[in-house]
Amino acid sequence: MDALSLIKQTALALMNGQLRAAGDPHRPCWHLAPSVGLLNDPNGFIQHNGRYHLFYQWNPLACDHGRKCWGHWQSDDLLHWHHQPVALLPGDDFDSHGCYSGSAVVENDKITLVYTGNVKFTDGSRTAYQCLAQENASGEYDKLGPVLPLPAGYSGHVRDPKVWRHHQQWYMVLGARDLHDQGKVLLLRSDDLRSWQLQGEIAGSRLNGIGDFGYMWECPDLFRLADRELLICCPQGLAAEPERYLNVYQAGYLCGELDYATARFSHGEFHELDAGFEFYAPQTTLAEDGRRLLVAWMGVPEQDESYQPTVRYGWLHTMTCLRELTLHAGRLYQQPARELQQLRGAATRWQGPAAEAPQLEIDSAELLLRPHGPFSARFGDGMQLSWDGERLCLSRHNLRSGEPEQRYWRGELQQLQLLFDRSSVEIFINQGEAVMSSRYFPCRSPRLFLSGDAPLALQHWPLNAVMIE
Ligand code: FRU
Repeated sequence: MDALSLIKQTALALMNGQLRAAGDPHRPCWHLAPSVGLLNDPNGFIQHNGRYHLFYQWNPLACDHGRKCWGHWQSDDLLHWHHQPVALLPGDDFDSHGCYSGSAVVENDKITLVYTGNVKFTDGSRTAYQCLAQENASGEYDKLGPVLPLPAGYSGHVRDPKVWRHHQQWYMVLGARDLHDQGKVLLLRSDDLRSWQLQGEIAGSRLNGIGDFGYMWECPDLFRLADRELLICCPQGLAAEPERYLNVYQAGYLCGELDYATARFSHGEFHELDAGFEFYAPQTTLAEDGRRLLVAWMGVPEQDESYQPTVRYGWLHTMTCLRELTLHAGRLYQQPARELQQLRGAATRWQGPAAEAPQLEIDSAELLLRPHGPFSARFGDGMQLSWDGERLCLSRHNLRSGEPEQRYWRGELQQLQLLFDRSSVEIFINQGEAVMSSRYFPCRSPRLFLSGDAPLALQHWPLNAVMIE
């Protein structure tokens, strides 16, 4: 399909589908979701001249992973988001099978997108080009074409450029699958964003003492935080363990020091970024006020996506809430962006034995819990969270099989902050030491049912809705 027919079909999909999607009782009140069709990775997250831009992988035509475009939202406050012209549509020779993930930088005061042009051949093989596109006066993006073909020694799976500036040079990390099916992160350098030199592999499976660690690493993001370098990456192919690596694919990070001169990254072990059911392809940006912000896709590729009930309403997936990152003793902490507090309505405070707590509304709500012993919490009829003094366990019924499934966190629990939005819950443990992000599909107007003898203290706020306009 050429770009013009894709635009016509997208207009039709929106005309036919938007009202139906908006009427879905599981549609979020304040999270970002596609008007119609499927959303996946956040792309091109950047703040420029005070304004935030968030692009996203979007298939407007169906709830599947075909025809990836870049949708575009803009916001002045991280709360109110406004639709912008679709930034990238596939269809050129270098991006015929999708404008895949990438990032944004500012060059000569213009937002410049660096993305992967995905090209598939009839024999089933594929190649990838790293491409540029630049903002024009109408807020649209003009493609500037490919700047980098596949580097030698890698399969057709080389993608998801994240670009940043360091000491008057441009740097890029790319996710890759090498010819021996090992996942890698490549570092490249450029003077002008157009001509790129490969510096080497900075992390990956069988590198830097990490052992076998997956056949492909997607969506890398490298940034400095508190005098360390953090490399976020999404390895594919890790074997599940009893209490970790339980999603189909993982998203996590390595913390260390990058020597730009030798392209050597010495780092510690891989830590998962999230312990919930749905979290993938996170991307960060440096806000103008110095905060490192993160947003991720609240979904996982190939993880029972088509069984989510929103598909019947013609839309699929949401972003996570916007988060602020900090580093404590080499570990990344995530907290909800402080702007989200502006959504809070009137507070309710309560304390006493868990089982006597009021049944609070959790359709769109925030909850702070300080437990003084074991307890369990049911979120409507959709999900259950329990704490036994050692382990936090989040459980739900799998949408495909109907079987119960669990995710875990272990540690010393002091506080939980839960953000509910219709069909999602994000659980921030101990002020961001860990997070569990998940979708769930409760009955209408779900309530919180607490049980347990131990006392707990809670605070509850309904959260106001904000429309994407
Ligand atoms: C991650 C990912 C990326 C790719 C994009 C395509 O979810 O597979 O590697 O660029 O999605 O939509």
